[in-house]
Amino acid sequence: MKKGFLLVAFFFSSYFMIAQTVYDKFKPGEVWLDHKGNLINAHGGGFLYYNNTYYWFGEHKAAGEMGNKAMVGVHVYSSKDIYNWKDEGIALKMAKNKNSLLQKGCILERPKVIYNKKTGKFVMWFHHELKDQGYKAALTGVAVADKVTGPYKYINSFRLHSKVWPINFTKEQQESAALIYKTEFNKTRRGKEGLDLYRDFEVGQMSRDMTLYVDDDQQGYHITASEENQTLLISKLSDDYLSMTGEYVRILPGERNEGPAILKKDGKYYLFSSDLTGWLPNPARLAVSDNMMSGWKSLGNPCRGTEEENKTTFRSQSTYVLPIEGKKDAFIFVADRWDPKNLIDSQYILLPIEFENEIPFLKWYDSWNLNLFDKK
Ligand code: DGJ
Repeated sequence: MKKGFLLVAFFFSSYFMIAQTVYDKFKPGEVWLDHKGNLINAHGGGFLYYNNTYYWFGEHKAAGEMGNKAMVGVHVYSSKDIYNWKDEGIALKMAKNKNSLLQKGCILERPKVIYNKKTGKFVMWFHHELKDQGYKAALTGVAVADKVTGPYKYINSFRLHSKVWPINFTKEQQESAALIYKTEFNKTRRGKEGLDLYRDFEVGQMSRDMTLYVDDDQQGYHITASEENQTLLISKLSDDYLSMTGEYVRILPGERNEGPAILKKDGKYYLFSSDLTGWLPNPARLAVSDNMMSGWKSLGNPCRGTEEENKTTFRSQSTYVLPIEGKKDAFIFVADRWDPKNLIDSQYILLPIEFENEIPFLKWYDSWNLNLFDKK
């Protein structure tokens, strides 16, 4: 009798829990459940708006200290309103085959997906580290699908631009980097002078935290932390987005940026990023340029909060800027509040990006909804 009652109570409460997971606002940093009542598991995420629907792709983390090993793959969710997310399953599965570079137990971070209008294919790029090699390999991986939710077919992972210099690294800089590297390798000058760029010229450049950006003319860009995370590289993707053209630039050399995320407003590109402190939060950075491939300038920390909030980016690290369809100049800053002891428990921070004198800034809201963008 007692058992029966407990069973009914259990079914009733789980039904009730499912019924409760209807959201009409964002509550940054709070537990966020999908349509089945499970924690949304899409960390270091990226978004794609396609066919009147938002898709959220991210790292599926496992529980516990092993959580950063990719055992499952890239999780995808869909939503019509950005508050409520439906679990669409695993878009890219880790390979069972032990000969595959993408075997279970390797590291797969910050997946991003873009749609190619010419080919009609969905293209995913991600940061890939090989099994049992820590963060040494520093590869970027690429996969492709016919359907937005997958299955994505893994193509390959590689270092970038072997034997090709960036277009903004002059002959003089190349010679000077070679000389300094060979005679007085100096850690503090490595980023500014391109010493790791020189070191990796033959094997190809490192690629770690990354994002993608498709411009209004459909040119695709791959933006990544390279040179031991000292410098970001921006590379033009090929027309089908499946490879690189070979044209690339180094930006903000020696400034140690991770977590890159791009927005474009009134012809200007803004780049959000973080400092380099592993899983620990740090002050965010903002940079601006009129051109993806040149002229980037730092604008400092975009956060406007308490000293502690500014020092930690509201205890989070940037992963993406999500433009809101149908609303002018409405963008969401998407970040991860990492919990390194149990990465599956890392929460998401979504904050509106506001502008003053055309410069983006971030402010904390305990809760907010998309109407905030209409009040401006
Ligand atoms: C910070 C990066 O932004 C994350 O994606 C992850 O690579 C951690 N470092 C690992 O320490």
